Amino acid sequence: MDALLEVRDVTVRYGHLYALNQVSLRVDCGERVGLVGASGSGKSTLLHVMAGLLRPTAGTVVYGEPIASGGYRALTLVVQHPLEVFSPRQSVGDFLHEPLRNFRLAHGQEAKAAVRDALAQVELPPTAEDKYPHELSGGQLQRVVIARALLLRPACILFDEPTSALDVLTQASITALIGDLQTRHGFASVFVSHDLGVVQAMSDRIVVMDAGCAVESLPAARVKDARHPATQRLLAADMYDVPFLAPTAK
Ligand SMILES: Nc1ncnc2c1ncn2[C@@H]1O[C@H](COP(=O)(O)OP(=O)(O)OP(=O)(O)O)[C@@H](O)[C@H]1O
Ligand SMILES: [Mg+2]
Repeated sequence: MDALLEVRDVTVRYGHLYALNQVSLRVDCGERVGLVGASGSGKSTLLHVMAGLLRPTAGTVVYGEPIASGGYRALTLVVQHPLEVFSPRQSVGDFLHEPLRNFRLAHGQEAKAAVRDALAQVELPPTAEDKYPHELSGGQLQRVVIARALLLRPACILFDEPTSALDVLTQASITALIGDLQTRHGFASVFVSHDLGVVQAMSDRIVVMDAGCAVESLPAARVKDARHPATQRLLAADMYDVPFLAPTAK
């Protein structure tokens, strides 16, 4: 298989609710896929299935060689709220050294150098290592989470609304940082955001989710040509800057 990962006919059911309904999606090496859709359309569920954190009711996820050989390390998830993954009692240094230890990627001086380098890559000073989460801003915390993802040398990073909790300027600096890192390291990405403009900037291709289905897939530059009503609703909502509150067209 040439694809980095391929979701095939995946269904996730909670009782009568289909969080995902026969979704298929392929991500190639180095490709940047954007995922948009109204709240509850299944975006996070799809990322959790891709990351292997949730077993689908039906269907499969097939991993290409770069992920299959690297396991969890090669496919990592960055979530909206860093504190979901970052313990308040853990220093930044501990948080960053942990994956190096767990996956035996580096130890001793090599690990220290890798952590310093990861902090520099996300434009944080070396002194950040001694800080605790409550001493950092939301944007700085998200940079630390991205630094940790980089230390894993992933083939693909799944971003679940990584900037939604941030103010507009911080959001722009984090998306610019992710773009730079991607140019430098070439990891593939699946980027979820409520903001169509952000997803467009962060993606080569955009997949639109609606009520658990992947209803449209189109090049990011051609979103304005979207045909599906769900995509048109997103575009209309974006235009008026009222994210996803536009009523269903009658
Ligand atoms: N563990 C669960 N148990 C029951 N229902 C769930 C569970 N997880 C998700 N759902 C439901 O599945 C649907 C899809 O949820 P999901 O979180 O994937 O949506 P989303 O597109 O990420 O939404 P948002 O934009 O608000 O983050 C929703 O209706 C949600 O309520
Ligand atoms: Mg979500």
